[in-house]
Amino acid sequence: MFEKWLDRTILFSFDRSGFLRHQRSFQPERLSGSGKHALISGAAKGIGLATAQILTEYGVHLDALVRKMPEEAFPYSAYKLDLGDIQSVYAFSQQKQTSYDILIHNAGSMPNLKQESISGYEEIFASQVIGPYVLTRGLIESGQLQKNARVIFVSSGGMYLKPLDLTDVNYLHKKYHKYEAYANAKRAQVILTRLFNEEYQGQYSFHAMHPGWVNTAGVIDSMPWFYRLMRHRLRTVRQGADTIVWLALTEEKLPSGGFWFDRQIAPETLLAYTKPSLETEQKLWDYLDNIYRGLHV
Ligand SMILES: NC(=O)c1ccc[n+]([C@@H]2O[C@H](COP(=O)([O-])OP(=O)(O)OC[C@H]3O[C@@H](n4cnc5c(N)ncnc54)[C@H](OP(=O)(O)O)[C@@H]3O)[C@@H](O)[C@H]2O)c1
Repeated sequence: MFEKWLDRTILFSFDRSGFLRHQRSFQPERLSGSGKHALISGAAKGIGLATAQILTEYGVHLDALVRKMPEEAFPYSAYKLDLGDIQSVYAFSQQKQTSYDILIHNAGSMPNLKQESISGYEEIFASQVIGPYVLTRGLIESGQLQKNARVIFVSSGGMYLKPLDLTDVNYLHKKYHKYEAYANAKRAQVILTRLFNEEYQGQYSFHAMHPGWVNTAGVIDSMPWFYRLMRHRLRTVRQGADTIVWLALTEEKLPSGGFWFDRQIAPETLLAYTKPSLETEQKLWDYLDNIYRGLHV
């Protein structure tokens, strides 16, 4: 009862104490990584780097997508790719280099000022929704995702505050609210996870998750006030990476299409007004499908 109450506070759930409490009910690990091949975006730092490190500790062979090539020694095969550069994402997906067992869409940021991606879309939606959609479809259609591969979207608890709003898709022509743009993209990722599952049911599995509040440069840059207030309560990057790694490697048979937090299925909505209609979800899919088809010509 008290545990449930603590979870409802959000603060004592998304913070480090929440992780330590939830961790007590984690089952003994049955994670298998040996012989698997993973592709992860945003792997140069933060949660992505921690995820890459843990995956390789389990014997996973890792390819990393990075926006800029790391200056220091980087132990993974790195490919320079801006996820907001949709044409390049598509081109990468068609290279027929390898076949992945695990695809992790981790790259993400919340720029303080409105930015236009290389492709001309607003940066947050481009790099966290359009790019991952194109990469996933492209890898599937070029045969670079193994059957039964696991695709994981690193979303955010911030999406609980926002219904999907497709009139907001292109903020380039609107007043920019970074929290809204971010929450909207993170909400879209959770919906996409379900829609991908419906489209490719039984062939691949799709999972969205949120890592809680994690001590990263991303938080310091985009929410300095939050960092100042919460810095002693933030999760470590390895704690933030835990559910990503678990979803990628667990031998347990997991339901596909869901939203996870600390190795448990979490509700997709907490507030009734944020529940998306079927029509809005279909619009999102059609919008992305249209962009994807346009890349073939
Ligand atoms: N930290 C948290 O509390 C928290 C909470 C909820 C969700 N998340 C999510 O967790 C993920 C990782 O965040 P983090 O906190 O680890 O942030 P981070 O330390 O800033 O790392 C984000 C990574 O994503 C890369 N990236 C951003 N935009 C990109 C683009 N257009 N193309 C390619 N790569 C791009 C960054 O590249 P550069 O190195 O070039 O900047 C960086 O390597 C994000 O999706 C974030 O939204 C984080």
